[in-house]
Amino acid sequence: MSTAVLVAAVVGGGVLFLMRRLFPQQKKVVKLLQYSADTMRGKTVIVTGANSGIGKALAGELLKLQARVIMACRDQGSAEQAAQDIKKQAGPEQGEVVIKHLDLASLRSVRKFCEEINAEESKIDILVNNAGIFRCPYTKTEDGFEMQLGVNHLGHFLLTHLLLDLLKRSTPSRIVVVSSKLYKSGHINFDDLNSEVNYNKSFCYSQSKLANLLFTLELARQLEGTGVTVNALTPGIVRTRLGRHVQIPLLAKPLFYLASLVFFRSPLEGAQTPLYLACSPEVEGVSGKCFADCEEEELMAKATDDQAAKKLWDISSRMVGLTN
Ligand SMILES: NC(=O)c1ccc[n+]([C@@H]2O[C@H](COP(=O)([O-])OP(=O)(O)OC[C@H]3O[C@@H](n4cnc5c(N)ncnc54)[C@H](OP(=O)(O)O)[C@@H]3O)[C@@H](O)[C@H]2O)c1
Ligand SMILES: *[C@@H]1O[C@H](CO)[C@@H](O)[C@H](O)[C@H]1NC(C)=O
Repeated sequence: MSTAVLVAAVVGGGVLFLMRRLFPQQKKVVKLLQYSADTMRGKTVIVTGANSGIGKALAGELLKLQARVIMACRDQGSAEQAAQDIKKQAGPEQGEVVIKHLDLASLRSVRKFCEEINAEESKIDILVNNAGIFRCPYTKTEDGFEMQLGVNHLGHFLLTHLLLDLLKRSTPSRIVVVSSKLYKSGHINFDDLNSEVNYNKSFCYSQSKLANLLFTLELARQLEGTGVTVNALTPGIVRTRLGRHVQIPLLAKPLFYLASLVFFRSPLEGAQTPLYLACSPEVEGVSGKCFADCEEEELMAKATDDQAAKKLWDISSRMVGLTN
């Protein structure tokens, strides 16, 4: 008995130590934002990937604040389930939920989604580009893009472009881009953007999240003076379904799960910075920045490189068929 306890303590301690080493900067305690109940009344917000993780938690908070929340999701069943959950939690005075199909791995789907939004909505106050895919095996989108770049960057690139006129007619309006601190281990491989020569799934995730930051930088420059702002954020390490493609040995799974309970943020905690960028009067007029823990975050030079941002913009524009 006492041996078993000792073994458990040693193994448990070892895992906790390892996790500390792996995730050293994570500040676990997150203060939850408090806004008055009707902060988002009359506001329409689009959240991509709102059926799971950070997106679902964010949609739930916006609903509580009485927004009209458009959940842009690729799986109808999962979106309906999530909508039910957040409606149940939002209390008697809540906004409204609309589910709309959006598959960011298909430019056709992005175009169809935007056509419908442009026809049906009189305004969009906030667009949150949240959906993302992480370290999946090599696959291509419908249009032949490497999946992580295709979904995380290119799909959102076209989406934002096609909603921009409506956003400009809805000023003051905001675009919020969910990036990741893992941008730090990437660069934009302009010679092989679709990773056809060599696929490294970790690199491609980092590349796509750096692309999110460069997109934010260039878009903010183009939107100067229009009343539409765009800011990015990094949410920290959050307990979501993002790691679904990462293989963990069966025996290590319970330990990993326990460690994630201790060290990872809850989806609600992870949703605080995007919530802040969507709602706070403090960021009215602020644009082209990146935030973490509801504060401006200093970025590495590769994420503030105007020339790279412009170059990526032009290539992305060609890839999604906006220019030739
Ligand atoms: N969790 C973290 O620690 C962490 C850290 C840094 C940054 N982030 C970023 O946070 C964002 C949200 O991720 P999460 O952690 O909340 O993960 P998640 O629970 O896996 O949610 C990701 C969402 O993106 C959607 N999505 C994936 N591919 C899509 C596609 N082709 N079309 C439309 N939607 C698609 C997913 O839909 P399905 O459910 O249908 O797959 C899901 O709703 C991502 O951009 C991620 O890069 C997360
Ligand atoms: C894959 O990319 C990651 C992140 O850029 C890097 O740390 C790692 O060394 C790369 N792996 C290989 C096999 O090149």
